Formats: sequence, C-alpha cells, structure tokens
Amino acid sequence: MMGPMSRRSAHSLRFFGQWLRNPRQTAAIAPSSPELAAAVLAELPQGARRIIELGGGTGVITHALLDAGIAPDDLLIIELNASLHAQLQARVPGARVVQGDALHTAELALASGYLEHGPADAIVSGLGLLTMSRETQSAILQSAFACLGPDGVMVQFTYGPLSPVNQSLLLELGFAARRGELVLRNVPPATVWTIRRNRAKAIRPRTVHR
Ligand SMILES: C[S@@+](CC[C@H](N)C(=O)[O-])C[C@H]1O[C@@H](n2cnc3c(N)ncnc32)[C@H](O)[C@@H]1O
Repeated sequence: MMGPMSRRSAHSLRFFGQWLRNPRQTAAIAPSSPELAAAVLAELPQGARRIIELGGGTGVITHALLDAGIAPDDLLIIELNASLHAQLQARVPGARVVQGDALHTAELALASGYLEHGPADAIVSGLGLLTMSRETQSAILQSAFACLGPDGVMVQFTYGPLSPVNQSLLLELGFAARRGELVLRNVPPATVWTIRRNRAKAIRPRTVHR
C-alpha cells in the first residue's frame, strides 16, 4: 500500500507528465503543496460549505477541502484535462467531477445539477489566469460569479507578483481583489488572492442559481 509521501510523488510525476504535454494549460510543473492548500482554505468565508473548484488537477486542494469537512456532495470540480479528470473522478467518489472548460462554469454547474441545491459559497481556482487573454479571464470570472451567492468569494492562487486579474478588468466587472498569503513552500511560490463583488460599484453579472 502507498504511504502519503509515495502517493504525493506519484501525483507529482503524473502532473509533470501533463505539464510536459501542455505547459500553458497545466500552468504549474507540480501540484500545489499542502501549505498552499491550507492558505487557500484559510481564505474561505466562515461557514462556507458549498464549493466549486476550477482546475482540480491531481486533487491536492480537493482533498484538503474534504479533510476540512466539506461534504463530497457539496463539491463541484471542473477539470479540462481528460487524464487528470479521469483520475480525480476515480479518487473523489460522491463529488461531481466534470470534464469541461471553466469558461462554461455556470452551464456545467447547471447541467450537473449542482445548483439545484442553491448557489456556491466559494469558488477555489488554480487556473493559470495570468496566461489567459482579458476576454477569457472576463468570461471565466463572469461564469464563475454567476454560480455564487451575493457574498460569495473566489479564492485564486497565482505565481506572479501582481493580482491575477488586472485592476481595469476588476473595475469593469464590479469586482475587487485582495492579496492574501505568499506561500514560499510551493513550486513555484504562490500568492493567494480573493476576489469579491465590489458592493459600491457592482454591475451584477448574470446569476444562474435559483
Ligand atoms: C496550476 S494547476 C492546479 C491544479 C490543482 N488545483 C492544484 O492546486 O494542484 C491548474 C489546473 O487547471 C486545469 N485547467 C487549465 N485550464 C482549465 C480550464 N479552462 N478549465 C478547467 N480546468 C483547467 C489544468 O489542467 C490543471 O489541472
């Protein structure tokens, strides 16, 4: 039986293989560290229960969420890579693990039945937003926020020094971003950001939950 260290090494190797195939989409050479997963979870609103994860990868953050008491049924995970999706689906029974593009988060959440139980409290994302065009970033953010309740938050980690979404796009969408923890024990080091609706300016994006 594999111990936690050898399981981590196996996941790292598998993830690295996907990075070799498609570095831009995979966005990192290694899965997130437990320290980064903990920093992401620390930004979740108190009492957050229903979570959508964008870009589940090998499931480091998914498992941290489950270990923190999030019920599988309250999780929706969207992963674009077919191989990572298949592995994640096998390893997280009871959760909705959908193969698809985060561009279509709202449609995928509706089709999976996730939103029948209400909006999500938070979106957790490891997507490589920095390498995406402004249009793609905008579409992903709008689709993601359409699944969130009014106080919902998106927790996004990024490998660059600046906000993963620039100020002009945040303003245009009526969102505000706040920098959280810088996690050095991650390859590469990463910073956690939270993005929320800016109450003063919000032009509320479409809402798909009932
Ligand atoms: C930096 S990795 C993070 C993986 C995992 N969450 C972690 O923290 O280890 C980004 C993940 O997003 C996935 N991904 C990239 N673009 C995507 C998209 N448009 N929609 C859904 N998933 C995407 C990649 O396949 C990869 O698994």
